[in-house]
Amino acid sequence: MSKIKKIIIANWKMNPTNLKEAKKVFTGIKRTAIKLSNVKTVVCPPFIYLDDFAPLCKENKISVGAQDAFSKNKGSFTGMISPEMLKKNGVTFVILGHSERRALGETDEFINNKVRMSLKTGLNVVLCVGEKERDEHGWYFPFIKDQLLSGLEKVGKSDLKNILIVYEPVWAISGNSGGQSMSSAEVHEMTIFIKKVLSDKYGINTSLPKILYGGSVNPKNAEDIFVNGQIDGLLVGKASLDIEDFGLILKIANKI
Ligand code: PGA
Repeated sequence: MSKIKKIIIANWKMNPTNLKEAKKVFTGIKRTAIKLSNVKTVVCPPFIYLDDFAPLCKENKISVGAQDAFSKNKGSFTGMISPEMLKKNGVTFVILGHSERRALGETDEFINNKVRMSLKTGLNVVLCVGEKERDEHGWYFPFIKDQLLSGLEKVGKSDLKNILIVYEPVWAISGNSGGQSMSSAEVHEMTIFIKKVLSDKYGINTSLPKILYGGSVNPKNAEDIFVNGQIDGLLVGKASLDIEDFGLILKIANKI
C-alpha cells in the first residue's frame, strides 16, 4: 500500500437501498477510477453488496472495503462479520472506529481489538479518529491523541504500512449539526499533530501511515483540502454516492 500516491475512500454507509442502484453507482465510479494513474479508489458499500463488487476489483486501482469487522475470527457472535470472512471474499480494506459506530457505543478498547484482529488477518485498516466538538482551549488535541494511541495500542511498527489514519471531526460530517468541512488550514494543523503523535510513538525515522481527511468533502472543497491541508487522501460519505461528484473528486486528486 505504501506505493499508492493518493487514496480516496467511498463510505456509502447504509446506502443505496437496493442492489440495482448500488451496481449502477459502483460501475460509474469504476469507469473513472480505472483511468487514473495517481489514485487508488476504495469503495465501502454495505456488507450485503461486497460479494457482488469484490470480483469486479481485479485492477489495482479499485478495491472494496467493509465499513466494519468484528474483533474475533470465529465463535458465537450473532450478527457479526469476521475479518477472515471479509478477506476470503476479496475484501482488502476495513473502516474501523467511524464516529457513527462509536456513537453506537464502541469503546476505544473494542476498536483496538478489531484493529489488531483485522491486521493479523491481513486487511488494510482505515482507522477513524475525530473530536465531537471544538473548544477554544484546544482540548480536542489531547482527545485526538488519546483516540489514536488507544486505537493503535499493541500495534507494532511493521503493521503501519497496512494502516490509514482518517481524521474526521464529527461536527464536519454532512448531516451532523454544522455539517461543514473544516478549513484546509485546520486540516493541515491536525495533520501535523497526528504525525507528531505517531512519530513520538514509533520513532522519527519510521515511515508513518497515510493521513486522510473526512467530513463534507465535495468537488468544490476537495482541491483546497488536498493541497493546503497536505493530506494523502479523503474519506467521502455523501458525495461518494453521486457518480458525477465522486468522479470529479477522483480526477481532482489525480491531477494534484
Ligand atoms: P460525509 O461523510 O462526506 O457525508 O460528511 C463522511 C463520513 O462520515 O465518512
